[in-house]
Amino acid sequence: TNHLENRKRLAGKKVLISAGPTREIIDPVRFFSNRSTGKMGFALAEVAARFGAEVTLVTGPVHLETKQETIKRINVVTAEEMYQAMWDHFEEADIVIKSAAVADYRPKITYDEKMKKQPGNLIIEMERTKDILQSLGERKTTQFIVGFAAETSNIFEYGKGKLQKKHLDAIVINNVAEKGAGFGVDTNIVTYLNKQLKKEELPLATKDAIAEQIIHFIERDMKDEIK
Ligand code: CTP
Ligand code: CA
Repeated sequence: TNHLENRKRLAGKKVLISAGPTREIIDPVRFFSNRSTGKMGFALAEVAARFGAEVTLVTGPVHLETKQETIKRINVVTAEEMYQAMWDHFEEADIVIKSAAVADYRPKITYDEKMKKQPGNLIIEMERTKDILQSLGERKTTQFIVGFAAETSNIFEYGKGKLQKKHLDAIVINNVAEKGAGFGVDTNIVTYLNKQLKKEELPLATKDAIAEQIIHFIERDMKDEIK
């Protein structure tokens, strides 16, 4: 891919990526989260930056560093903070890739002081967070929007449903039940599905290699739209 990189294929393009989990706060020492480590989103950010894009990476708490100085990193904690950061950069973006694993629920009440244990069971009431991707999809103008879907069964059907419901241009469906795919590992197995329902199955590969492929499909589909 070296000769392609030299062409800085994404020069002049603004790419907005979200990565990692969110944390939904219970009290000063406790939160709800998920197993996302941010690797897929960070890999996408590095590839886009290498291709010359101006990259903004909005990330939940992860143990990763960006390698290229040109990547603008914005750290967030909660789904609400991620929503704000994504909207702050959405309008100017050309490509938006939402690989973050956003919490669907958060505690209805966040306590300022550490909760004390009581006899018996604890019930924490949860409320829905905003669907960031859906809100972006509904109000998009010229942006090419790519979502992710983490699925454990009926992956194609669920993925297609999310693509259409959230008004996406493409979705990357992650089979998180497969060995070598999903959370915490350096490899992944994904299916890229565009809104014309053209399907590209990417077999087990490193997240870096998969990120390159995904960027390649995005470029292809954006060119097709201009034609
Ligand atoms: N997403 C989001 N905001 C949320 C929840 C999800 O932006 N509050 C985005 C994710 O970043 C991902 C896509 O929506 O790009 C799909 O996430 P996923 O969890 O697979 O799907 P959901 O729509 O949340 O549906 P469910 O978890 O019920 O399968
Ligand atoms: Ca979800």
